[in-house]
Formats: sequence, structure tokens, C-alpha cells
Amino acid sequence: MNLKPTYIAAFLGLTLIGSAYAACDVEIEGNDAMKYNKSSIEVPQSCKEFTVKLKHVGKLAKAAMGHNWVLTAAADAAAVTKDGTAAGAAKNYVKDGDARVIAHTPLVGGGESTSVTFDTAKLKAGENYAYFCSFPGHAALMKGTLVVK
Ligand code: CO
Repeated sequence: MNLKPTYIAAFLGLTLIGSAYAACDVEIEGNDAMKYNKSSIEVPQSCKEFTVKLKHVGKLAKAAMGHNWVLTAAADAAAVTKDGTAAGAAKNYVKDGDARVIAHTPLVGGGESTSVTFDTAKLKAGENYAYFCSFPGHAALMKGTLVVK
């Protein structure tokens, strides 16, 4: 094998770039059994923005088994869920202008995907954050924790 030094240098450079930048996105699935496939998410401190892609891998319609992804401080999760239920399906079960909501996706049904990108400056290291589906009754099972690391 005859690798020229410039090729080797380029390869090493790309390898270093790859390791220096942590992934600033994550994919999470929701299913017809009212479950996410992840119970925790870590946001690397180096990310300026973070994207959560939500994929509904089930078949049921949005009105019957809708899923979203809502992020709040852990202490706010229960109240935000309650207010989201009151807001109704047309609002994706998130109260308009709710300052406790750090980020949220729209509601999706089976086979659909969505995503949300948020500014990580809204998050503090060491704080406990909760994510959940605010569709009525879902947050009891569809929930997880998010931390900055
Ligand atoms: Co749901």
C-alpha cells in the first residue's frame, strides 16, 4: 500500500474532528404500546443546539395514540401535563405560551416523524429535566430524564 503523507494527514484530521464533536441530536421512538424507547437523554455540554427527532413507529392514529416530546424542568412536568390536557389536541396538548416548556414537538400519529431543535443555553448543568408525552394519560408511561453532561 502506498499512502501519500497528505492522505494520511487528512485521514487523521477527520478522525480528530469526529471525536471532538459529540452528537448534538438524538432519535427517540414512540409506539402503540404507549412507550418511548429511551428513558434518558444526555445533552453534551459542547452542543449549542440540540435536536430531538421523534419517530412514531406504531400504526394507530394521532387521535387515539398521539405522541409528542415535551421538555421541562422535572419539577414542572406534572403541572405542564395537566395544563396540556386542558389545552386540547388542537394545541398538541401544550398550553399556549407556557414558559415552563423548554421545547416540544407537535403531536404525531403512527408512521409519522417530527423533530424539535432548541438552544442549549436554556439548560443548566446539574439540573434535572424531564421529557414526556403530554397526550392525556401518556406521561405516566412515556417519560424520561434529560441531563447536560
Ligand atoms: Co403519547
